[in-house]
Amino acid sequence: MEKREHFSSRLGFILISAGCAIGLGNVWRFPYITGKYGGAAFVLVYLLFLVILGLPIMVMEFAVGRASQKSAAKSFHVLEPAGSKWHITGYLAILGNYMLMMFYTTVAGWMIYYVYKMIRGEFSGLTPDEVGGIFVGMLADPKAMTFWMLVIVLLCFGICSLGLQKGVERITKVMMSFLIVILVVLCVRSITLEGAAEGIRFYLIPDFGKMIENGVGEAIYAAMGQAFFTLSLGIGAMAIFGSYISKEHRLTGESLNICLLDTAIAFMSGLVIFPACFAFGVDPGEGPGLVFVTLPNIFNQMAGGRIFGTLFFIFMTFAAMSTVIAVFENILSFSIDLWGWDRKKAVLVNGLLIIVLSLPCVLGFNVLSNIQPLGAGSTIQDLEDFIISNNLLPIGSLLYLLFCTRKSGWGWNNFIAEADSGKGIKFPQWARFYVSYILPVIIIFILFMGYWQKFFA
Ligand code: PHE
Repeated sequence: MEKREHFSSRLGFILISAGCAIGLGNVWRFPYITGKYGGAAFVLVYLLFLVILGLPIMVMEFAVGRASQKSAAKSFHVLEPAGSKWHITGYLAILGNYMLMMFYTTVAGWMIYYVYKMIRGEFSGLTPDEVGGIFVGMLADPKAMTFWMLVIVLLCFGICSLGLQKGVERITKVMMSFLIVILVVLCVRSITLEGAAEGIRFYLIPDFGKMIENGVGEAIYAAMGQAFFTLSLGIGAMAIFGSYISKEHRLTGESLNICLLDTAIAFMSGLVIFPACFAFGVDPGEGPGLVFVTLPNIFNQMAGGRIFGTLFFIFMTFAAMSTVIAVFENILSFSIDLWGWDRKKAVLVNGLLIIVLSLPCVLGFNVLSNIQPLGAGSTIQDLEDFIISNNLLPIGSLLYLLFCTRKSGWGWNNFIAEADSGKGIKFPQWARFYVSYILPVIIIFILFMGYWQKFFA
């Protein structure tokens, strides 16, 4: 079996974990749901959930990874009391990582396709209807979508095949650094547009009246789901990176850094998108098409729009790719941990598997569009997203939480000893009651509210 490689630096660990967290959830999902639920009031609720919900669970995932020195496939086997069944959580986690990639590679493919189109100036001079037509045309074209999905899968597995330090760590560090620089440039451009102030107001000054109008329950539910999704919690995606670090730093401080980075990127994405929407009189509540339909129109009206548009989609592509690379790293380590494969074999087999598994999502928009699993107009992608976001992430997070707080699992004492070894911020002792008894109830509540809304409301 290969020796377990570790990250070469603490910065590497933080940037890769942040790279895993920062993805379509920040740059695509966060802006459009914020637009939909009325802006700043929603943002406040979301921030609250990041702290009370996301942060403690991230610490737990890292602790399980670091203590076991294994991926989610094996970590529960190592830490569970003999004879117990906690390791089934590991299989759920494996399923979750594959399932996430089944639709994520497709959306990442859209992003890189838009980079290509922006560079070629294909949006220049089009009417808003024609810009919308490009998005619809792309969805209807299985060949183009398969091609760009393949580009993403091959590129990302290619990077992973170079190894943890030489591939994943080196390339992700570069991408994340570029991503931050591009984002700052875009923010400055957007905020200084004429008429941006109204967008900034919408985004930063809470109007709870508007939130009540749109349904508080729904907004709260969306904010909670977003907190899990954006921090990559519940399927061991973060836990793996805990297994690649030493015990030098306490895990609460590390998690806090990652949450802050993730939040900063989501927040700044909003600062790019909302001022631009208001400056050009575009509705920010447009939904998932916000990025693909609304923004190219905005770039069309903006001086230097082709350059800013290209930068914007490069930024989106980097965010998506850093997540795909991180999840592929998980997937590789499952086969390495479970069957002792070497990295090359794991790359080959999983690369092929992911390509095949990504096809239903691609084809669900065209050839298989008659399959509408969640009601009229829904797609295979909606089903996969539902299985992940409304089921595997909250259930997995709940299991990590119970594993770390229950005597029948790994238990509080083991967890706290692991989380608190090293220098830095300690996991607060007073939070024990909260994470043991209140947090599980909150998660169960989200879960049922999710089912209720999907099937009965
Ligand atoms: N956090 C990622 C994003 O925001 C998505 C993700 C979820 C990744 C769960 C891994 C696990 O795009």
